[in-house]
Amino acid sequence: MKPLVIWGCGGHAREVLHLCEQMGARVIGFLDERTEYKGKVMDGLPVFGDLPDILHLKDQVRIVCAGVGDPFLKKHFVDKTTRLGFQPANSLIHPSVYLSKRNTIGKGTIICEGTILTTNVQVGNFVILNRGVILSHDDIIQDYATVAPGASIAGNVMVGEGATIGIGSSIREKVSIGAWSMIGGGSFVKENVPPHTLYAGVPAVYKRKWP
Ligand SMILES: CC(C)(COP(=O)(O)OP(=O)(O)OC[C@H]1O[C@@H](n2cnc3c(N)ncnc32)[C@H](O)[C@@H]1OP(=O)(O)O)[C@@H](O)C(=O)NCCC(=O)NCCS
Repeated sequence: MKPLVIWGCGGHAREVLHLCEQMGARVIGFLDERTEYKGKVMDGLPVFGDLPDILHLKDQVRIVCAGVGDPFLKKHFVDKTTRLGFQPANSLIHPSVYLSKRNTIGKGTIICEGTILTTNVQVGNFVILNRGVILSHDDIIQDYATVAPGASIAGNVMVGEGATIGIGSSIREKVSIGAWSMIGGGSFVKENVPPHTLYAGVPAVYKRKWP
């Protein structure tokens, strides 16, 4: 397996490093577009700078694009990575996560410790399922979605492309979360959420357009 470089150097990126260590995958550094981070050391590894700063490593490394929780930024990093001819890293799945033959996981996705997927769950590309997420039967999580720690999603739920499910929130069965929407932390969602909207609260209600 080629060594990995992780997009971002914030809290989530460093947690992805932690996941890689748990999996025995080798990480050699971080990437960050913010020039003030170039040359810093985070959790013992260098921040190389922006992707063009490591063009000489193009064929020697794989890039972890889901090193940031924000789906918009994640998609930006995926597009930039492929545009510059780098290969995104394979999905990173903590060894505690049991995947049956009835689950499908796309590429570049991250599944952290303690997450549970039951039967017939489909997870797309560059998704983040953070620690302790519960996904139930027949759920579909589309590309670039981010599910924060401790969220519980009942059966037959569809989480649209680029949607974010906030920390500790719960989604009722058969609900659809629109693309690029945001569910506030600690919410209970009991009705369909349109695309590009913020819903929050118990029960979750429309707050405003998102972002
Ligand atoms: C949803 C969130 C991003 C909104 O942040 P924001 O842009 O600062 O929100 P705003 O201040 O514009 O809030 C808009 C409205 O939603 C409400 N709201 C925001 N988050 C809420 C929440 N989690 N629960 C209930 N209401 C919430 C605000 O009170 C406000 O309500 P009002 O218009 O009736 O007064 C943020 O509150 C949140 O919940 N983030 C989740 C963080 C998370 O999951 N982190 C995990 C990291 S691993």
